[in-house]
Amino acid sequence: MSQTTSPVSTDKLLQYLENQIREYPFGENPSALYEPISYIMSLGGKRIRPLLTLMAYSLYKSDVSAALTPALAVEVFHNFTLMHDDIMDDAPLRRGQATVHEKWNANTAILSGDVMLVKAYEMLLAAPSEKLPTIFRLFNQAATEVCEGQQHDMDFEKMDHVSEDAYIDMIRQKTAVLLGFALQLGAVLADASEEDGQKLYEFGVNVGIGFQLMDDLLDVYADQAKFGKQVGGDIISNKKTFLLIKAKELATGEQKQNLNNWIAKETFDKTEKVNAVTAIYNELGIDKLTAAQMHEYFEQGFAIYDSLSVPNNENYIQLLELVKNLVHREK
Ligand code: IPE
Ligand code: IPE
Ligand code: MG
Ligand code: MG
Ligand code: MG
Repeated sequence: MSQTTSPVSTDKLLQYLENQIREYPFGENPSALYEPISYIMSLGGKRIRPLLTLMAYSLYKSDVSAALTPALAVEVFHNFTLMHDDIMDDAPLRRGQATVHEKWNANTAILSGDVMLVKAYEMLLAAPSEKLPTIFRLFNQAATEVCEGQQHDMDFEKMDHVSEDAYIDMIRQKTAVLLGFALQLGAVLADASEEDGQKLYEFGVNVGIGFQLMDDLLDVYADQAKFGKQVGGDIISNKKTFLLIKAKELATGEQKQNLNNWIAKETFDKTEKVNAVTAIYNELGIDKLTAAQMHEYFEQGFAIYDSLSVPNNENYIQLLELVKNLVHREK
């Protein structure tokens, strides 16, 4: 396909998305069900997934507005997973504000999350009817994998040994496949070839693995104010992140004993544990190892992106820039 499309700007697309999010009629009554939805949806966030859908679409077609509501479905689904993830992770902060289960309660976060999943399906229905079987099949596959990944993530908290491969597969499921789906959705909506759709999916999966590695790194090393989430949350709950897996592998002697003691402790001062484990990470240079691993996945993703059959035009470069900027993100 060598048709050229008119250039889109990321800022403009973001503006479209924000308007649409503000105006979408999620529902009003009962307010206890719908208020948390407006709350989480209005807290901002990078909106990376719907941007990926719109930008992938713009590689093939110009009328991006036709993809807007399905793109938003991906963002609503993502926010639903965050609402439930914050209960599972006992997280106090999301995008710099109280999490829904803290501001209201867990039951509210469960039910508002449930209806968000339904709303995501409702938004996908805005796609042309002949594309719906494909879109639902792909979406259901990704959504199921997100749940599987989330369960592995929780199971791993309780396990002593988790291999690097098992960790990578867990983050592929919980995080990466949704970025893959977001891109493939844009391709399907724009009538791209199946081959390009598949390549965009693989691009998203590789970048998504890098994205979660960065998230794990930020969970330890971010500036709390910019990050908007509790720094050290993964350490507190013994998440088997790449950082912890590497540290367990590389630590020796007293350092290893120390690390294992902190992981085994049932009662502890949270700040003390976060500081102690972070100190071990620092001694072992875990930050650099994680960053290197992240770059590998991004590079693999870029190589796949490079093999697409689209012209190397402004939109092609915009999408590449959007993804490249994720490497330097601070939140
Ligand atoms: C957070 O996703 C959950 C992960 C998969 C790491 P984002 O980092 O995209 O969060 P927002 O939407 O920008 O807040
Ligand atoms: C979450 O991973 C992935 C999903 C929400 C499915 P994290 O638990 O690391 O995400 P954050 O750090 O809370 O955003
Ligand atoms: Mg989690
Ligand atoms: Mg979490
Ligand atoms: Mg995280």
